[in-house]
Amino acid sequence: MVNIRRFHIVIVCFLIVIVSMSLSYIAKRSSIPIGRTFGPRTALRTTRSFSFSSTSAKSTSNSASTSTSSAAASNYDNSIHTLKNYDVAVAYQPKDREESNLFKKKHNKPSPALQSPSGEDNLFVSKQFEDGYITLGVADGVGGWSEAGYDSSAISRELCASMKLKFESLNDRSQITPKQLLSLAFDDISTSPKVEIGGTTACFGIISPDKTLKVANLGDSWCGLFRNYQLINETKFQTHNFNTPYQLAKIPPQIIKQAELEGRRYIIDSPAVADEYTWDLKSDDIIMFATDGVTDNIIPKDIELFLKDQIEGKKNNLDTIAKTFVKEVVKVSKDPNFPSAFAQELSRLTGQKYLGGKADDITIVLVKVQ
Ligand SMILES: *[C@@H]1O[C@H](CO)[C@@H](O)[C@H](O)[C@H]1NC(C)=O
Repeated sequence: MVNIRRFHIVIVCFLIVIVSMSLSYIAKRSSIPIGRTFGPRTALRTTRSFSFSSTSAKSTSNSASTSTSSAAASNYDNSIHTLKNYDVAVAYQPKDREESNLFKKKHNKPSPALQSPSGEDNLFVSKQFEDGYITLGVADGVGGWSEAGYDSSAISRELCASMKLKFESLNDRSQITPKQLLSLAFDDISTSPKVEIGGTTACFGIISPDKTLKVANLGDSWCGLFRNYQLINETKFQTHNFNTPYQLAKIPPQIIKQAELEGRRYIIDSPAVADEYTWDLKSDDIIMFATDGVTDNIIPKDIELFLKDQIEGKKNNLDTIAKTFVKEVVKVSKDPNFPSAFAQELSRLTGQKYLGGKADDITIVLVKVQ
């Protein structure tokens, strides 16, 4: 009797050990490990959303790899850094992309996002007029339509091209606000056959001869004004949810309908929701327009230190400064141990510790007021 009881106890203990071992195994598999990194090699989805979903969203992550063409280069002059009232420099680097087989199957050619020198980011710099007006800024194409066989870089590129063109063709540049310019350009691309589908942010400014900068921002790109290497004015990010920015979008009706049937809804914001800012400029002020490839990695304090280091007591030209800046941001964006702004925000939201840079297209337009 005693022996049988003891036997039972041994069996029960044995079972408890087995069960608790498998439970802890399951727990390990399903929990997010502390200190997990999401550098380029990990699976965490960092592509921004362009739809709301009632079910779990299908992955829309980008994939493509680097190569170049002159697509983005058409939205500014190569002689921009010799402008009259402002020095202007641009710099960009697309993230590493893999070839999308889906795109190949449909078109038998590589995805246009692969061939865009700035990926899905784009920028523009208008002519600087005799009267001293200039408009310039960035736009960041959202989401990976390239996988479905579309040119996902078209919407930000064409929006930039249109803003430059519309501004340059105005008779009177003193009256238009950036928001009105955004509206004109968006109407333009809404009917343009060059843009089939896509979403984009926009952050850009118009500088007038009296040294006033008017900025319009829609989404999570960014503009900051630095005086004596200190950030004095900046735009606010507009987001619907974490990693889901406000965005202008062009989506064909049949695709909207299909999404509705599947319980999904695309985010389509109007130019009217853009925030507007008016800032006064002084000589030697630095203005930076940047896509979230910059601001998801580094914080304004980093930019302040960088500018001070590059400018104070040195003769670096603005072009070199812009290119060095992008190179530095690219470096940290690929560092799995870098405490990026994105990782810190994710840590704050989840209560778990995240580390790592965020790989993304990185684009800036830098202005120095003379
Ligand atoms: C921009 O910064 C300057 C200097 O700190 C400040 O006086 C001004 O009020 C700011 N402008 C806005 C619109 O916040």
